[in-house]
Amino acid sequence: MISQTLREARKYEEASEKMITREERPDFHLCARTGWMNDPNGFSWHDGKYHMFYQYHPYDSHWGPMHWGHAVSEDLLHWEHLPAALAPDEPYDMDGCFSGSAITLPDGRHLLMYTGVLQERLWNGGKRDVQTQCLAVGDGVDYEKFKKNPVLDTKDLPEGVSRSDFRDPKMWRKSDGTYCCVVGNRPADGSGQILLYTSPDGFSWSFKKVFAANNNRFGKMWECPDFFVLDGKGVLLTSPQDMLPQGFEYHNGNGTLCLIGAYDEQTDTFIEEHDQSIDYGIDFYAPQTVLTPDGRRIMIGWMQNWDTCNFRSQNIQWFGQMSLPRELSIQNGRLYQKPIREFDAMRCNRVEHKDAIVSGTVSLSGVKGRRVDMELVLRPVEGVDLYQKFAVRFAQNEDYQTSLSFRPREGVLKVDRKFSGSRRAIIHQRRCLVNDPDSRKGELKLRIILDRFSVEAFVNDGEQVMTATIYTDQAAEGISFFADGAVSMDVVKYDIR
Ligand code: FRU
Repeated sequence: MISQTLREARKYEEASEKMITREERPDFHLCARTGWMNDPNGFSWHDGKYHMFYQYHPYDSHWGPMHWGHAVSEDLLHWEHLPAALAPDEPYDMDGCFSGSAITLPDGRHLLMYTGVLQERLWNGGKRDVQTQCLAVGDGVDYEKFKKNPVLDTKDLPEGVSRSDFRDPKMWRKSDGTYCCVVGNRPADGSGQILLYTSPDGFSWSFKKVFAANNNRFGKMWECPDFFVLDGKGVLLTSPQDMLPQGFEYHNGNGTLCLIGAYDEQTDTFIEEHDQSIDYGIDFYAPQTVLTPDGRRIMIGWMQNWDTCNFRSQNIQWFGQMSLPRELSIQNGRLYQKPIREFDAMRCNRVEHKDAIVSGTVSLSGVKGRRVDMELVLRPVEGVDLYQKFAVRFAQNEDYQTSLSFRPREGVLKVDRKFSGSRRAIIHQRRCLVNDPDSRKGELKLRIILDRFSVEAFVNDGEQVMTATIYTDQAAEGISFFADGAVSMDVVKYDIR
């Protein structure tokens, strides 16, 4: 039975998506069908397709009572919108169906687990969230909420922890056929922690242990955890709130964190060995992963950030997009990300320049566009002093440009969207310390992917990534290169079909 609230949302989204032209949307990044989108949810392979759900407020381009939007794809690049899957229509989720995950049950049904939010009234007239974990079961289009919801509530929490910050369950199936899920929570010290729950069947869940503890090292509350084994290592992804910068590694506000360590499946023990940012740019948060049928671990994040997403023009029909799907691997103990290989099939009109010398400002024939995949290999020029700075500028015309610039002496790569047409005093720049020591000799590889409203720069074969949204007029499609000193550069550039 579909509730009145969900029926209305479905009717509304169907009518209102027609008001948005294809050109107003990103070309190959998933965005809200209409209205507002945040976190990826329920990212899964089910019944021969990838399913992506998302935090969704169809009625407005701003955050509001959370529904789950829904889209499916065969290649993670071409998406088809399906009717909204969940609406806040039960006593335990009246104030929102927050983030969660999905798995396929052995009998073929699709199981969703999400956070139900209910605001309780306080003695002083204020309100406070009660967050619980809930289930819905469906066929890939329609989902029915479980009669015994919520399946995890206050009584399933360890003593002394917050019941207002208990959200974003990510489930997986273990090799013995039982289920696990990790949930973000806040212990008494106000920091963040990840709780682990187990289940024999996906329906009855019990608390197992504190899986990972922040101890106030990386921000406060840890949101949207994901855990998986990759290349023999345990990998915990989470998005901390209220971070402080640590050198160039983490930045202020909501950020992303990847912990890599040893994992023992028998005892569900995770021992941290390494920490790093997931993305070093401006707009990337709350990523979630899926395992493909051929065994690849693919990650998609919300291509936005909470600190700036409300400073923007009001007259838009949609807001919020997902990043490109990225293939993950662990190399030299670090997380590597590459654009999903299926993306290569969308490339056309190859243009190549070898050993182009960049000194001052240079344009190259055939190198321009707003839907582009471009690989740059930079080298110092022999017999000349190491260059001071290199920059590639794009989404460029007389009025606008966004740039990636690199200073080899400091090893710092910077994304700068100050001149992208933004009229708000938001964060426009972010710096990243390039990890590879060869970058100090002036050697750098960049793969830059532009869609209508975004840039994603993969550094040194995916060792680091910088992501940012830009809302520059589409007529600004110039690309140029600049060096203070001299750089020898190879360029391979494609348009995206
Ligand atoms: C993260 C988050 C989640 C929550 C959702 C609400 O971006 O705050 O923790 O479930 O967004 O929309």
